[in-house]
Amino acid sequence: MTVPVSPRPVRALLVEGVHPIAADLLATCGVAVEQVDRALDPGELVRRLHGVQVLGLRSGTQVTADVLAQAPDLQVVGAFCIGTNQIDLQAATAHGVAVFNAPFSNTRSVVELAVAEIIALTRRLTVHDDAMHTGIWRKSAKGSHEVRGRRLGIVGYGKIGSQLSVLAEALGMRVSFFDTADRLALGNARRCATLDELLADSDVVSLHVDGRPGNSGMFGEEQFAAMVPGALFLNLSRGFVVDHAALRRHIDSGHLAGAAVDVFPDEPAAAGDPFESDLRGLPNVILTPHVGGSTEEAQQDIGRFVATKLIGYLQHGTTGLSVNLPEVQPARPAGTVRLVLLHRNQPGTLAHVNELLAGGDLNVEQQVFATSGPVGYVVTDVRGPLAPAVVDRMRGMPETIRVHVLPG
Ligand SMILES: NC(=O)c1ccc[n+]([C@@H]2O[C@H](COP(=O)([O-])OP(=O)(O)OC[C@H]3O[C@@H](n4cnc5c(N)ncnc54)[C@H](O)[C@@H]3O)[C@@H](O)[C@H]2O)c1
Repeated sequence: MTVPVSPRPVRALLVEGVHPIAADLLATCGVAVEQVDRALDPGELVRRLHGVQVLGLRSGTQVTADVLAQAPDLQVVGAFCIGTNQIDLQAATAHGVAVFNAPFSNTRSVVELAVAEIIALTRRLTVHDDAMHTGIWRKSAKGSHEVRGRRLGIVGYGKIGSQLSVLAEALGMRVSFFDTADRLALGNARRCATLDELLADSDVVSLHVDGRPGNSGMFGEEQFAAMVPGALFLNLSRGFVVDHAALRRHIDSGHLAGAAVDVFPDEPAAAGDPFESDLRGLPNVILTPHVGGSTEEAQQDIGRFVATKLIGYLQHGTTGLSVNLPEVQPARPAGTVRLVLLHRNQPGTLAHVNELLAGGDLNVEQQVFATSGPVGYVVTDVRGPLAPAVVDRMRGMPETIRVHVLPG
Protein backbone atom coordinates (compact mmCIF):
# COMPACT_ATOMS: atom_id res chain seq x y z
CA MET A 1 0.00 0.00 0.00
CA THR A 2 1.36 3.45 -0.86
CA VAL A 3 0.89 6.74 0.95
CA PRO A 4 -1.97 8.80 -0.52
CA VAL A 5 -0.81 11.61 -2.76
CA SER A 6 -2.60 14.37 -0.89
CA PRO A 7 -4.79 13.37 2.04
CA ARG A 8 -6.93 16.53 1.73
CA PRO A 9 -7.00 19.64 -0.40
CA VAL A 10 -4.65 22.42 0.70
CA ARG A 11 -6.39 25.52 2.08
CA ALA A 12 -4.96 29.04 2.27
CA LEU A 13 -6.11 32.07 4.25
CA LEU A 14 -4.87 35.42 2.88
CA VAL A 15 -5.55 38.41 5.13
CA GLU A 16 -4.92 42.19 5.03
CA GLY A 17 -5.76 42.62 1.36
CA VAL A 18 -2.74 40.78 -0.01
CA HIS A 19 -2.40 41.56 -3.74
CA PRO A 20 -4.85 39.36 -5.76
CA ILE A 21 -2.06 37.91 -7.87
CA ALA A 22 -1.16 35.73 -4.85
CA ALA A 23 -4.63 34.16 -4.68
CA ASP A 24 -4.60 33.62 -8.45
CA LEU A 25 -1.23 31.84 -8.38
CA LEU A 26 -2.21 29.62 -5.43
CA ALA A 27 -5.58 28.77 -6.98
CA THR A 28 -3.86 27.81 -10.25
CA CYS A 29 -1.96 25.20 -8.23
CA GLY A 30 -5.16 23.75 -6.77
CA VAL A 31 -5.09 25.54 -3.42
CA ALA A 32 -8.49 26.62 -2.05
CA VAL A 33 -8.04 30.29 -1.10
CA GLU A 34 -10.06 32.39 1.34
CA GLN A 35 -9.33 36.14 1.34
CA VAL A 36 -9.95 38.73 4.06
CA ASP A 37 -9.15 42.41 3.46
CA ARG A 38 -8.30 43.35 7.08
CA ALA A 39 -5.90 42.30 9.84
CA LEU A 40 -7.19 39.62 12.24
CA ASP A 41 -6.86 39.62 16.02
CA PRO A 42 -5.37 36.45 17.56
CA GLY A 43 -8.75 34.95 18.53
CA GLU A 44 -10.26 35.27 15.06
CA LEU A 45 -7.00 34.16 13.48
CA VAL A 46 -6.98 30.92 15.48
CA ARG A 47 -10.62 30.22 14.58
CA ARG A 48 -10.01 30.81 10.89
CA LEU A 49 -6.80 28.76 10.81
CA HIS A 50 -8.67 25.56 11.63
CA GLY A 51 -7.97 23.20 8.71
CA VAL A 52 -5.79 25.81 6.96
CA GLN A 53 -2.24 24.96 5.84
CA VAL A 54 -1.16 28.31 4.36
CA LEU A 55 -1.42 31.76 5.93
CA GLY A 56 -0.63 34.97 4.03
CA LEU A 57 -0.48 38.30 5.84
CA ARG A 58 1.14 41.72 5.92
CA SER A 59 2.38 43.57 8.99
CA GLY A 60 -0.89 44.02 10.93
CA THR A 61 -1.66 40.44 11.98
CA GLN A 62 0.31 38.99 14.88
CA VAL A 63 1.30 35.34 14.62
CA THR A 64 2.23 34.71 18.24
CA ALA A 65 3.50 31.54 19.91
CA ASP A 66 -0.03 31.13 21.28
CA VAL A 67 -1.61 31.32 17.84
CA LEU A 68 0.91 28.82 16.45
CA ALA A 69 0.26 26.38 19.29
CA GLN A 70 -3.44 26.43 18.40
CA ALA A 71 -2.96 26.01 14.64
CA PRO A 72 -1.75 22.43 14.17
CA ASP A 73 -2.73 22.34 10.49
CA LEU A 74 -0.61 25.36 9.57
CA GLN A 75 2.48 24.48 7.47
CA VAL A 76 3.67 27.75 6.03
CA VAL A 77 3.28 31.51 6.53
CA GLY A 78 3.91 34.08 3.79
CA ALA A 79 4.65 37.62 4.98
CA PHE A 80 3.63 39.73 1.97
CA CYS A 81 5.99 42.50 3.09
CA ILE A 82 9.63 42.92 4.07
CA GLY A 83 9.54 42.66 7.86
CA THR A 84 8.69 39.52 9.84
CA ASN A 85 8.52 41.03 13.35
CA GLN A 86 4.79 40.23 13.44
CA ILE A 87 5.61 36.51 13.44
CA ASP A 88 7.18 34.66 16.37
CA LEU A 89 9.84 32.98 14.24
CA GLN A 90 11.25 30.82 17.01
CA ALA A 91 7.82 29.42 17.78
CA ALA A 92 7.12 28.94 14.07
CA THR A 93 10.29 26.87 13.71
CA ALA A 94 9.49 24.85 16.83
CA HIS A 95 6.06 24.03 15.36
CA GLY A 96 7.56 23.16 11.96
CA VAL A 97 6.00 26.16 10.19
CA ALA A 98 8.09 27.66 7.39
CA VAL A 99 8.07 31.45 6.97
CA PHE A 100 8.78 33.40 3.79
CA ASN A 101 8.84 37.13 3.03
CA ALA A 102 9.71 39.44 0.12
CA PRO A 103 13.06 41.04 0.87
CA PHE A 104 13.69 42.44 -2.64
CA SER A 105 10.37 43.31 -4.25
CA ASN A 106 10.17 46.98 -3.31
CA THR A 107 13.81 47.94 -3.66
CA ARG A 108 13.36 49.52 -7.10
CA SER A 109 10.53 51.68 -5.74
CA VAL A 110 12.80 53.02 -2.99
CA VAL A 111 15.53 53.77 -5.52
CA GLU A 112 13.15 55.67 -7.80
CA LEU A 113 11.93 57.81 -4.89
CA ALA A 114 15.53 58.57 -3.93
CA VAL A 115 16.32 59.63 -7.51
CA ALA A 116 13.21 61.83 -7.64
CA GLU A 117 14.17 63.46 -4.34
CA ILE A 118 17.79 64.05 -5.33
CA ILE A 119 16.59 65.93 -8.43
CA ALA A 120 13.80 67.75 -6.56
CA LEU A 121 16.14 68.94 -3.78
CA THR A 122 18.93 69.88 -6.16
CA ARG A 123 16.45 72.06 -8.13
CA ARG A 124 14.77 73.36 -4.93
CA LEU A 125 11.44 72.21 -6.34
CA THR A 126 9.56 72.23 -3.02
CA VAL A 127 10.69 75.83 -2.34
CA HIS A 128 9.43 76.97 -5.77
CA ASP A 129 6.25 74.94 -5.34
CA ASP A 130 5.54 76.44 -1.88
CA ALA A 131 6.03 79.99 -3.17
CA MET A 132 3.73 79.42 -6.15
CA HIS A 133 1.00 77.95 -3.94
CA THR A 134 1.17 81.01 -1.69
CA GLY A 135 0.82 83.24 -4.78
CA ILE A 136 4.46 84.38 -5.17
CA TRP A 137 6.35 84.31 -8.49
CA ARG A 138 10.06 83.97 -7.65
CA LYS A 139 11.93 83.04 -10.83
CA SER A 140 15.60 82.49 -9.96
CA ALA A 141 18.44 80.06 -10.72
CA LYS A 142 20.16 80.71 -7.39
CA GLY A 143 20.87 77.50 -5.50
CA SER A 144 19.43 75.30 -8.27
CA HIS A 145 21.73 72.80 -9.97
CA GLU A 146 21.75 70.00 -12.49
CA VAL A 147 22.48 66.62 -10.92
CA ARG A 148 24.81 65.84 -13.82
CA GLY A 149 28.39 66.00 -12.52
CA ARG A 150 27.38 66.27 -8.86
CA ARG A 151 28.84 63.86 -6.32
CA LEU A 152 26.53 61.28 -4.72
CA GLY A 153 27.75 59.43 -1.61
CA ILE A 154 25.81 56.24 -0.84
CA VAL A 155 26.10 54.84 2.69
CA GLY A 156 25.13 51.13 2.63
CA TYR A 157 25.71 49.53 -0.79
CA GLY A 158 23.27 46.63 -0.52
CA LYS A 159 20.22 45.87 -2.68
CA ILE A 160 18.97 49.47 -2.66
CA GLY A 161 22.24 51.39 -2.45
CA SER A 162 23.79 49.51 -5.38
CA GLN A 163 20.72 50.03 -7.63
CA LEU A 164 20.75 53.73 -6.80
CA SER A 165 24.40 53.78 -7.82
CA VAL A 166 23.53 52.51 -11.32
CA LEU A 167 20.62 54.92 -11.90
CA ALA A 168 22.55 57.91 -10.51
CA GLU A 169 25.47 57.20 -12.85
CA ALA A 170 23.02 57.05 -15.76
CA LEU A 171 22.03 60.62 -14.79
CA GLY A 172 25.68 61.66 -14.96
CA MET A 173 26.32 61.74 -11.20
CA ARG A 174 29.73 60.81 -9.79
CA VAL A 175 29.04 58.04 -7.29
CA SER A 176 31.05 56.93 -4.29
CA PHE A 177 29.94 54.56 -1.54
CA PHE A 178 30.83 53.35 1.90
CA ASP A 179 29.79 49.94 3.21
CA THR A 180 31.03 48.03 6.23
CA ALA A 181 30.93 44.82 4.13
CA ASP A 182 33.10 44.18 1.08
CA ARG A 183 30.77 45.10 -1.81
CA LEU A 184 31.52 45.00 -5.52
CA ALA A 185 31.61 48.51 -6.99
CA LEU A 186 29.21 48.79 -9.94
CA GLY A 187 29.99 50.89 -13.02
CA ASN A 188 32.42 53.66 -12.16
CA ALA A 189 31.39 53.92 -8.52
CA ARG A 190 34.27 54.53 -6.14
CA ARG A 191 34.58 52.71 -2.84
CA CYS A 192 35.45 54.85 0.20
CA ALA A 193 37.51 53.35 2.99
CA THR A 194 35.71 55.36 5.67
CA LEU A 195 32.46 57.21 6.16
CA ASP A 196 34.43 60.44 6.73
CA GLU A 197 36.09 60.07 3.33
CA LEU A 198 32.64 59.82 1.72
CA LEU A 199 31.17 62.75 3.66
CA ALA A 200 34.07 65.04 2.75
CA ASP A 201 33.51 64.41 -0.95
CA SER A 202 29.71 64.30 -1.51
CA ASP A 203 27.18 66.93 -2.64
CA VAL A 204 24.41 64.47 -1.76
CA VAL A 205 24.59 61.82 0.98
CA SER A 206 21.99 59.04 0.85
CA LEU A 207 21.62 56.47 3.65
CA HIS A 208 20.71 52.87 2.75
CA VAL A 209 22.07 50.89 5.70
CA ASP A 210 20.17 48.01 7.26
CA GLY A 211 18.41 48.05 10.61
CA ARG A 212 20.95 46.20 12.76
CA PRO A 213 20.91 47.52 16.36
CA GLY A 214 24.47 48.89 16.04
CA ASN A 215 23.22 51.41 13.46
CA SER A 216 21.07 53.20 16.02
CA GLY A 217 22.07 56.88 15.97
CA MET A 218 24.94 56.19 13.55
CA PHE A 219 24.33 59.51 11.76
CA GLY A 220 24.27 62.50 14.13
CA GLU A 221 25.98 65.81 14.94
CA GLU A 222 29.49 64.61 14.09
CA GLN A 223 28.49 63.19 10.70
CA PHE A 224 26.36 66.20 9.69
CA ALA A 225 29.23 68.51 10.66
CA ALA A 226 31.55 66.50 8.41
CA MET A 227 29.31 67.01 5.33
CA VAL A 228 30.36 69.64 2.79
CA PRO A 229 28.59 73.03 3.04
CA GLY A 230 25.49 73.17 0.86
CA ALA A 231 25.17 69.37 0.67
CA LEU A 232 21.87 67.47 0.68
CA PHE A 233 20.96 64.57 2.95
CA LEU A 234 18.55 61.66 2.31
CA ASN A 235 17.39 58.90 4.61
CA LEU A 236 15.09 56.21 3.22
CA SER A 237 16.54 53.41 5.36
CA ARG A 238 15.49 53.31 9.05
CA GLY A 239 14.32 56.16 11.26
CA PHE A 240 16.44 55.32 14.30
CA VAL A 241 19.75 55.61 12.45
CA VAL A 242 19.54 59.44 12.26
CA ASP A 243 19.52 62.17 14.93
CA HIS A 244 16.76 64.45 13.60
CA ALA A 245 17.47 67.28 16.06
CA ALA A 246 21.03 67.45 14.70
CA LEU A 247 19.74 67.42 11.12
CA ARG A 248 17.39 70.29 11.94
CA ARG A 249 20.26 72.37 13.39
CA HIS A 250 22.31 71.92 10.21
CA ILE A 251 19.39 72.90 7.97
CA ASP A 252 18.49 75.89 10.18
CA SER A 253 22.09 77.12 10.17
CA GLY A 254 22.24 76.87 6.38
CA HIS A 255 25.13 74.40 6.52
CA LEU A 256 22.99 71.85 4.64
CA ALA A 257 20.87 72.93 1.67
CA GLY A 258 18.07 70.40 2.14
CA ALA A 259 17.00 66.90 3.07
CA ALA A 260 14.53 64.17 2.24
CA VAL A 261 13.38 61.85 5.01
CA ASP A 262 11.01 58.91 4.56
CA VAL A 263 11.54 57.03 7.83
CA PHE A 264 11.20 58.23 11.43
CA PRO A 265 12.16 56.93 14.88
CA ASP A 266 8.52 56.97 16.03
CA GLU A 267 6.13 56.42 13.18
CA PRO A 268 2.38 56.82 13.75
CA ALA A 269 0.59 53.48 13.92
CA ALA A 270 -2.27 54.18 11.52
CA ALA A 271 -3.11 56.25 8.46
CA GLY A 272 -4.64 59.56 9.56
CA ASP A 273 -2.78 59.65 12.91
CA PRO A 274 -1.01 62.93 13.77
CA PHE A 275 2.67 63.22 12.87
CA GLU A 276 5.26 64.97 15.05
CA SER A 277 8.87 65.58 14.05
CA ASP A 278 11.75 68.02 14.56
CA LEU A 279 11.86 68.26 10.79
CA ARG A 280 8.41 69.74 10.18
CA GLY A 281 8.22 73.20 8.62
CA LEU A 282 11.73 73.37 7.17
CA PRO A 283 12.40 74.74 3.68
CA ASN A 284 13.73 72.37 1.02
CA VAL A 285 13.01 69.37 3.25
CA ILE A 286 10.81 66.64 1.80
CA LEU A 287 9.00 64.50 4.36
CA THR A 288 7.17 61.34 3.28
CA PRO A 289 5.29 58.79 5.44
CA HIS A 290 7.53 55.72 4.92
CA VAL A 291 6.33 55.25 1.35
CA GLY A 292 9.72 54.52 -0.23
CA GLY A 293 8.69 50.98 -1.08
CA SER A 294 4.98 51.64 -1.42
CA THR A 295 3.99 51.38 -5.06
CA GLU A 296 1.42 49.25 -6.81
CA GLU A 297 4.23 47.61 -8.77
CA ALA A 298 6.02 46.65 -5.56
CA GLN A 299 2.79 45.25 -4.06
CA GLN A 300 2.21 43.14 -7.15
CA ASP A 301 5.78 41.89 -7.15
CA ILE A 302 5.53 41.04 -3.44
CA GLY A 303 2.32 39.08 -4.19
CA ARG A 304 3.98 37.14 -6.98
CA PHE A 305 7.27 36.57 -5.13
CA VAL A 306 5.80 35.28 -1.86
CA ALA A 307 3.09 33.18 -3.54
CA THR A 308 5.80 31.50 -5.64
CA LYS A 309 7.76 30.70 -2.47
CA LEU A 310 4.64 29.22 -0.83
CA ILE A 311 3.93 27.06 -3.86
CA GLY A 312 7.56 25.87 -4.03
CA TYR A 313 7.35 24.85 -0.38
CA LEU A 314 4.00 23.08 -0.72
CA GLN A 315 4.89 21.23 -3.91
CA HIS A 316 8.59 20.52 -3.47
CA GLY A 317 9.55 21.40 0.11
CA THR A 318 12.01 24.00 -1.19
CA THR A 319 13.07 26.55 1.42
CA GLY A 320 15.18 29.00 -0.63
CA LEU A 321 15.10 32.41 1.13
CA SER A 322 13.01 31.05 4.00
CA VAL A 323 13.29 33.33 7.00
CA ASN A 324 13.46 30.53 9.57
CA LEU A 325 14.40 27.19 7.96
CA PRO A 326 17.69 25.97 6.50
CA GLU A 327 17.84 26.70 2.78
CA VAL A 328 17.42 23.61 0.59
CA GLN A 329 16.06 23.69 -2.95
CA PRO A 330 17.08 20.63 -4.96
CA ALA A 331 15.59 19.93 -8.42
CA ARG A 332 13.40 16.86 -8.42
CA PRO A 333 14.17 13.58 -10.21
CA ALA A 334 11.12 12.56 -12.27
CA GLY A 335 8.90 9.81 -10.88
CA THR A 336 10.15 10.02 -7.29
CA VAL A 337 8.33 10.67 -4.05
CA ARG A 338 9.83 13.41 -1.89
CA LEU A 339 10.08 12.98 1.87
CA VAL A 340 10.74 16.19 3.75
CA LEU A 341 11.87 16.08 7.36
CA LEU A 342 12.24 19.09 9.62
CA HIS A 343 13.97 18.03 12.81
CA ARG A 344 15.76 19.23 15.91
CA ASN A 345 19.45 19.54 15.11
CA GLN A 346 20.86 16.47 16.87
CA PRO A 347 23.71 14.17 15.87
CA GLY A 348 22.69 10.96 14.12
CA THR A 349 19.40 12.12 12.58
CA LEU A 350 20.51 11.45 9.02
CA ALA A 351 21.61 7.94 10.00
CA HIS A 352 18.18 7.30 11.57
CA VAL A 353 16.43 8.49 8.42
CA ASN A 354 18.52 6.29 6.17
CA GLU A 355 18.08 3.22 8.38
CA LEU A 356 14.30 3.72 8.13
CA LEU A 357 14.43 4.09 4.35
CA ALA A 358 16.65 1.03 3.92
CA GLY A 359 14.30 -0.93 6.18
CA GLY A 360 11.41 0.14 3.94
CA ASP A 361 13.26 -1.16 0.88
CA LEU A 362 13.40 2.28 -0.70
CA ASN A 363 16.01 3.37 -3.19
CA VAL A 364 17.27 6.90 -2.40
CA GLU A 365 17.74 8.83 -5.65
CA GLN A 366 18.76 12.10 -4.04
CA GLN A 367 19.22 13.44 -0.54
CA VAL A 368 19.97 17.01 0.50
CA PHE A 369 20.56 18.04 4.08
CA ALA A 370 21.17 21.38 5.77
CA THR A 371 21.12 22.64 9.33
CA SER A 372 20.70 26.09 10.76
CA GLY A 373 20.91 26.74 14.49
CA PRO A 374 18.46 24.51 16.36
CA VAL A 375 16.94 22.77 13.31
CA GLY A 376 17.90 20.55 10.42
CA TYR A 377 16.11 19.90 7.14
CA VAL A 378 16.42 16.74 5.06
CA VAL A 379 14.90 16.33 1.62
CA THR A 380 15.00 12.76 0.32
CA ASP A 381 13.72 11.63 -3.09
CA VAL A 382 12.88 7.94 -3.16
CA ARG A 383 11.68 5.58 -5.83
CA GLY A 384 9.42 2.68 -5.15
CA PRO A 385 6.21 2.21 -3.17
CA LEU A 386 6.42 4.16 0.08
CA ALA A 387 4.80 2.23 2.91
CA PRO A 388 2.83 4.33 5.43
CA ALA A 389 4.73 2.57 8.22
CA VAL A 390 7.98 4.17 7.05
CA VAL A 391 6.45 7.63 7.23
CA ASP A 392 4.88 6.85 10.62
CA ARG A 393 8.25 5.75 11.96
CA MET A 394 9.87 8.94 10.69
CA ARG A 395 7.13 10.98 12.34
CA GLY A 396 7.79 9.04 15.55
CA MET A 397 11.56 9.75 15.71
CA PRO A 398 12.31 11.76 18.89
CA GLU A 399 14.05 14.54 16.92
CA THR A 400 11.23 14.96 14.35
CA ILE A 401 9.35 18.28 14.17
CA ARG A 402 7.44 17.70 10.91
CA VAL A 403 7.36 15.27 8.02
CA HIS A 404 5.80 16.05 4.65
CA VAL A 405 5.28 13.54 1.87
CA LEU A 406 5.22 15.20 -1.55
CA PRO A 407 4.19 13.05 -4.49
CA GLY A 408 6.05 13.45 -7.80
N1 LIG B 1 11.67 53.51 2.93
C1 LIG B 1 11.14 52.34 2.66
O1 LIG B 1 9.94 52.21 2.40
C2 LIG B 1 12.04 51.14 2.62
C3 LIG B 1 11.69 50.05 1.82
C4 LIG B 1 12.57 48.97 1.75
C5 LIG B 1 13.74 48.96 2.52
N2 LIG B 1 14.01 50.02 3.33
C6 LIG B 1 15.23 50.04 4.15
O2 LIG B 1 16.34 50.34 3.31
C7 LIG B 1 17.53 49.85 3.92
C8 LIG B 1 18.39 49.16 2.88
O3 LIG B 1 17.70 48.04 2.36
P1 LIG B 1 18.46 46.97 1.46
O4 LIG B 1 17.43 46.02 0.98
O5 LIG B 1 19.35 47.64 0.48
O6 LIG B 1 19.36 46.28 2.59
P2 LIG B 1 20.66 45.40 2.38
O7 LIG B 1 20.75 44.53 3.57
O8 LIG B 1 20.65 44.77 1.02
O9 LIG B 1 21.86 46.48 2.39
C9 LIG B 1 22.26 47.15 3.53
C10 LIG B 1 23.74 47.46 3.37
O10 LIG B 1 24.15 48.35 4.41
C11 LIG B 1 25.44 47.94 4.85
N3 LIG B 1 25.64 48.51 6.18
C12 LIG B 1 25.03 48.16 7.33
N4 LIG B 1 25.43 48.97 8.33
C13 LIG B 1 26.29 49.85 7.77
C14 LIG B 1 27.00 50.95 8.29
N5 LIG B 1 26.90 51.31 9.58
N6 LIG B 1 27.81 51.65 7.47
C15 LIG B 1 27.90 51.29 6.15
N7 LIG B 1 27.25 50.26 5.61
C16 LIG B 1 26.44 49.55 6.41
C17 LIG B 1 25.39 46.43 4.80
O11 LIG B 1 26.66 45.85 4.78
C18 LIG B 1 24.62 46.21 3.48
O12 LIG B 1 25.48 46.15 2.37
C19 LIG B 1 17.09 48.94 5.06
O13 LIG B 1 17.23 49.62 6.27
C20 LIG B 1 15.61 48.71 4.78
O14 LIG B 1 14.88 48.48 5.95
C21 LIG B 1 13.19 51.11 3.39
